[in-house]
Amino acid sequence: MDFSGFYKLPVKERLAKLREAGKIGAEDEKLLLDGDALKMGVADRMVENVVGRFHLPFAVAPGFVVNGKEYVVPMVIEEPSVVAAAANAAKLARGSGGFSAEADEPVMVGEMQVVGIKDGAKQKVEEARERIMAKAAEFAAGVERYGGGLRGMEVREISTARGKMLILMFEVDVRDIMGANTVNTILEGAAPLVEEVSGGKVRLRILTNLAVKRKARAKCVWKKEVVGEAVVEGVLDAYEMAANDIYRCSTHNKGIMNGIDAVAVATGNDWRAVEAGAHSFAAIGSYKPLTKYYKDAEGNLVGEIELPLAVGTVGGAININPLAQVGQKILGANGARELSMVMAAVGLAQNFAALRALGTEGISKGHMKLHAKNLAVIAGAHTAEEIDAVVAKMKESGTYTVENAKKVYGELKK
Ligand code: MEV
Repeated sequence: MDFSGFYKLPVKERLAKLREAGKIGAEDEKLLLDGDALKMGVADRMVENVVGRFHLPFAVAPGFVVNGKEYVVPMVIEEPSVVAAAANAAKLARGSGGFSAEADEPVMVGEMQVVGIKDGAKQKVEEARERIMAKAAEFAAGVERYGGGLRGMEVREISTARGKMLILMFEVDVRDIMGANTVNTILEGAAPLVEEVSGGKVRLRILTNLAVKRKARAKCVWKKEVVGEAVVEGVLDAYEMAANDIYRCSTHNKGIMNGIDAVAVATGNDWRAVEAGAHSFAAIGSYKPLTKYYKDAEGNLVGEIELPLAVGTVGGAININPLAQVGQKILGANGARELSMVMAAVGLAQNFAALRALGTEGISKGHMKLHAKNLAVIAGAHTAEEIDAVVAKMKESGTYTVENAKKVYGELKK
């Protein structure tokens, strides 16, 4: 399906295009248009003390090719230019086959803290490994039904200011769910036996967001002839700065997460968990970029990304929020691993787009053009017509500031 010029279409025509492409049905279209997909009664049961619902733009970035499959990527985000940048980077990658990606098995790790231990506690736990694993497995029936289950257990002893502690790390294959509740239930279920065996007191029983067993990787070649040599050199310099300067590295990784978080939100996933995993992974050893870039033998730019991505295609908020289901449907991943691969590709695309702009003309020009609509709203424009008229005038003058938006809007009102 050809999505060229998609961004120029009015919303209804974009939706028609998604329907034509088989990405959404009539019901989904209605949910997207209405803006009332999450009913108040449902919202009121999702969290506490609800007083309303909060809206964000739901956009799509078409044109992503990952492992030979075409994706239209749903993105929920408030920041202008993120969606356009992702779509553009994906488009520039198409000539070289798009992105290749892979993901680990969806194994989450949960930690159990045992305090007040005496010498020999670690050995006692090791000796009772099979009994503890069997007890823990009793609480993994939910994921076993889908081919998941308990996969392993590691025992570590750490020395702290409050004495020695045992940390038991339970590995659970959670298949297509994010898995937090499953892992925590298993930990809580096995805790009494661990206390009995170790002679200590179990305190924390909680998954780790540093999901190192559940990483996704993506790779892409941006052809020198397509992006130009200046871009190749600019991106390489930008990458080196991030790799050697933590202040830049923070922003470099933030840009990556702009794309990944937007997909996480659009698909009903816990983006705070994804964020925690990404940054703690980046900080192993010393804080480093989640992507890396180099030139291949022909001088093309090769980009790679690797990060933990604990995301699901079912369960949690996905089952409750109708728009999360629409997001999942649009993306069309066959399971959590595939979703994580597409998200990794989006992160890489997002990063490439940012470095391409930063390493050449800078981001303000493009950013402000896209930000112009927001400026028009800030200046007081209410209707689509007013917003477009203010944007057009600002474009003519080439000055994208609140002051200019106000001036232009004032003149328009006269
Ligand atoms: C802004 O949200 C993201 C960027 O700052 C990322 C980057 O600097 O790489 C543009």
